[in-house]
Amino acid sequence: MDYSKVLQEIKEEIATFKNTGKVATYIPELGKVDPSKFGVYLQCTDGNGYGLGDSLDCFSIQSISKVLSLALALKLKGKEVWKRIGVEPSGDPFNSLVQLEYEKGIPRNPFINAGALVVADILISELENPKEDLLQFVRNIAEDQSVEYDEKVAASEMEHKFRNASLTHLMKDFGNIKNNVDDVLDFYFHQCSIAMNCKQLTQAFTIFLNYGKYDLSKEAAVLDPILAKRINALMLTCGFYDESGEFAFTVGLPGKSGVGGGIVALHPRYYSVAVWSPPLNKNGNSELGMKVLELLTTKTEISVF
Ligand code: DON
Repeated sequence: MDYSKVLQEIKEEIATFKNTGKVATYIPELGKVDPSKFGVYLQCTDGNGYGLGDSLDCFSIQSISKVLSLALALKLKGKEVWKRIGVEPSGDPFNSLVQLEYEKGIPRNPFINAGALVVADILISELENPKEDLLQFVRNIAEDQSVEYDEKVAASEMEHKFRNASLTHLMKDFGNIKNNVDDVLDFYFHQCSIAMNCKQLTQAFTIFLNYGKYDLSKEAAVLDPILAKRINALMLTCGFYDESGEFAFTVGLPGKSGVGGGIVALHPRYYSVAVWSPPLNKNGNSELGMKVLELLTTKTEISVF
């Protein structure tokens, strides 16, 4: 497959794309990002990588971090995690409170905010230096020790914490948060603030390729094959909140979005791919990013289906 040619064709096709999306402003620091930024990076399992546009510019990975924190929590706690979080799509927005009340504080899945907050709580209990250890895990799997938290983004989100604070307090009341609520929020906002570029993200997500056996040199990061399988399944069914069905329908790959405008997707056998374009559709997913990934699987005729 000539991926370089495919990416060039995609670039030409999206030149006339009418983007109706809006950059997220509910975290004020994210609202400062240039909406015209656009990058793609594709990392193939044969070792070749292809970049386009601003693929080496760092951006706030936001909810994409939920996949990486889950991978670490599962490595540390295994099946125990599923006693506190479900594995079903929610069909609701990422920050919705409604299901939590009648499902007694057990989040539907680890990729909605409530689920990621429980994962954060698990990591705080398990890790000696939670923020340092999570960052080191991400640096190791990205094979890049320069990856950092963006303290301004983390502080900006803490200032506007009210909905995530409500979710965490409600789950604390149900006994599903063990640590101090503000510690959980501080850890969660830091994980969301991680700044990475498309290339680093595709590298990090190679841990989910080939049943976790793509790159055995990443010792600490290598995932048990069963975990790679399960996390990919969750990305497919829950990675885009109330738009997960639409993403499977139009793109056909497991993936995860973030309100920073990034999307990472992967074909378990062939590649991981990251796209970044800040304007979001009404469900909080990058509008152009979804289009690019649709074109990628359509043109290559490679998707999980
Ligand atoms: O908790 C929040 O609202 C953000 N830190 C992350 C939300 C997010 O990225 C949703 N994804 N599309």
